[in-house]
Amino acid sequence: MRSALFIPGDSEKKLAKGLDCGADCLLLDLEDSVAPNNKEEARSTVADFLRSANDVPDRPRLFVRINAFDTGLTEDDLAAVLAGKPDGVVLPKSQHGQDVTKLDAQLRVHEAQNQLDDGVTRILAIITETAVGTLNAGTYKRSSKRLEAVSWGAEDLSADIGAVRRRHEDGRYTDLFRYARVQTLLGAVAAGVQPLDTVFTDFRDEDGLKKECREAMLDGFTGKLAIHPAQVGVINEVFTPSAEDIAKAQAVVDAFSAAGNPGVLGVDGEMLDRPHLRKAQNLLVRAKKI
Ligand code: COA
Ligand code: MG
Repeated sequence: MRSALFIPGDSEKKLAKGLDCGADCLLLDLEDSVAPNNKEEARSTVADFLRSANDVPDRPRLFVRINAFDTGLTEDDLAAVLAGKPDGVVLPKSQHGQDVTKLDAQLRVHEAQNQLDDGVTRILAIITETAVGTLNAGTYKRSSKRLEAVSWGAEDLSADIGAVRRRHEDGRYTDLFRYARVQTLLGAVAAGVQPLDTVFTDFRDEDGLKKECREAMLDGFTGKLAIHPAQVGVINEVFTPSAEDIAKAQAVVDAFSAAGNPGVLGVDGEMLDRPHLRKAQNLLVRAKKI
């Protein structure tokens, strides 16, 4: 997925609006965008939305963000929404790969209770929203076959640490957040799952969003979370490999196969070795999925 748009789970109006905004995935939120006294209502609104949206043709994928394990709300969230057959669940404030393993086991039970195939519900984990989680970003390998992507979150991390600012005056994240961002990227690759960059909260600043998307893409992220429908087009554009990128990648793959798949070869005065081939193949796989 290139773009994943958060929608407060208690807003029927925004949920309806999300369906045709072009996002690859909607993150129907039961967590931080829903007030504590509205959790019950959000659960039933999201469950109803899932049931009605499931048959919409060409719809985005639908994930539900449940509440973190330490809230005591997780089980009831899952019980309420699994009947609606979401494509996936977002686990916030994940502290360790073991949290994902635990969620995997819970999902298996709810899938069985709802006559769903074992393993159909995927997981997106937000892994660096706490100090502990940030330090454990490397623990997600083999945590669950359901784990598809990881992302990070600056707002909760700043609350956990007590950091009073997240960015320098010129817009760059301070070291703490750059560290969490890089930990997420490394953790994703180590686990063999997709790295998704976090939200850009200033939703009227399109240039700022574009810049942050490009930086993320150049660093190796392959998608980004969104909070507003207006952000989706920009994100999709930046994270869609261009025709030129695809042609270049195809040329690298072709050159290796024409040369009998060697370890290294020279093309137009440039050395190409196995990492170049791997990178080209990954890009072609990603382009094909889109
Ligand atoms: N999903 C779907 N629709 C959305 C939306 C979203 N995330 N954000 C805004 N919209 C809709 C609005 O309802 C509005 O619809 P309308 O034109 O029919 O009235 C339209 O898009 C324009 O919205 P706008 O007036 O620009 O923004 P707003 O002030 O209504 O909302 C936010 C701003 C930040 C409250 C809103 O974007 C939002 O709720 N974002 C998601 C927050 C979230 O889930 N956070 C948790 C993860 S960090
Ligand atoms: Mg949060």
